Amino acid sequence: MALEFRSVTKGFEVAGSANMLTALKDISFKTGEAEFVAVVGPSGCGKSTMLNMTAGLYQPTEGEVYVSGSRVSGPNSHVGFMLQKDLLLPWRTIESNVAFGLESRGFSKAECRERAVAQLDKCQLSGFGDYFPHQLSGGMRQRAALARTLAIDPEVILLDEPFSALDAQTKIIIQKNFASTIESEKITTLLITHDLAEAVFMADRILVLSDRPGRVIEEIIVDIPDRGDPTKRRQHSRVTEYIGHMFELLKLQDREVLN
Ligand SMILES: Nc1ncnc2c1ncn2[C@@H]1O[C@H](COP(=O)(O)OP(=O)(O)OP(=O)(O)O)[C@@H](O)[C@H]1O
Ligand SMILES: [Mg+2]
Repeated sequence: MALEFRSVTKGFEVAGSANMLTALKDISFKTGEAEFVAVVGPSGCGKSTMLNMTAGLYQPTEGEVYVSGSRVSGPNSHVGFMLQKDLLLPWRTIESNVAFGLESRGFSKAECRERAVAQLDKCQLSGFGDYFPHQLSGGMRQRAALARTLAIDPEVILLDEPFSALDAQTKIIIQKNFASTIESEKITTLLITHDLAEAVFMADRILVLSDRPGRVIEEIIVDIPDRGDPTKRRQHSRVTEYIGHMFELLKLQDREVLN
């Protein structure tokens, strides 16, 4: 399988105290190849920490994380990571941003360029390679960041709320764009989101986490066709059923303030 968490617990030291803060508790799950898994849960329950451990930036306190059968023990070049902010380098053109991750992997200049151009094309940005990030819209910048993430040919991509800063209309278009690109590239994906509807529109499976320390309360299989097409899924009659179920699991009706 592509990605596996085996009984993972993560604690952080608390500054000025001997206590540990347990962010995640005993998380176990496996993804299949090319599966798209969304993770939802309250603020502070450890979602970003899960991604950081998958990328090898943090180590679990207990348990292990595996990517493509190998235990993650440090920063992992088979994992692509994308955040809410696009983190494109402002002084490089879009093409050179997409080529950035390839340069350190020993590709020749011509190969870097060729791959960057091909990836920009897949992400519907052909013709914008010579632009600088500030000359693109927010949605285009996110597509450029996806192109950069895909250019390294990752086995797994990690998305930490990549659409949450976009306006409602751009978000719909970019979700569709990401979903179809990821589906055609057949890459295993872990998407963190606060948007329950987005999880239903995009994922094969949703992990619902509890309040901190985050545990998996339920794994929901999204049994709706057209995974690569969120705009089609949006119209499906079962969407509200799934959202309502997560609403109850997360006890959103009882929540007055977010921690
Ligand atoms: N590097 C760190 N050092 C200490 N504590 C940390 C560190 N990273 C995360 N934490 C703590 O771990 C808990 C989980 O944080 P995390 O960022 O994973 O939550 P999250 O589910 O992504 O929240 P949000 O939805 O608000 O982004 C929080 O209490 C946070 O303070
Ligand atoms: Mg987070």
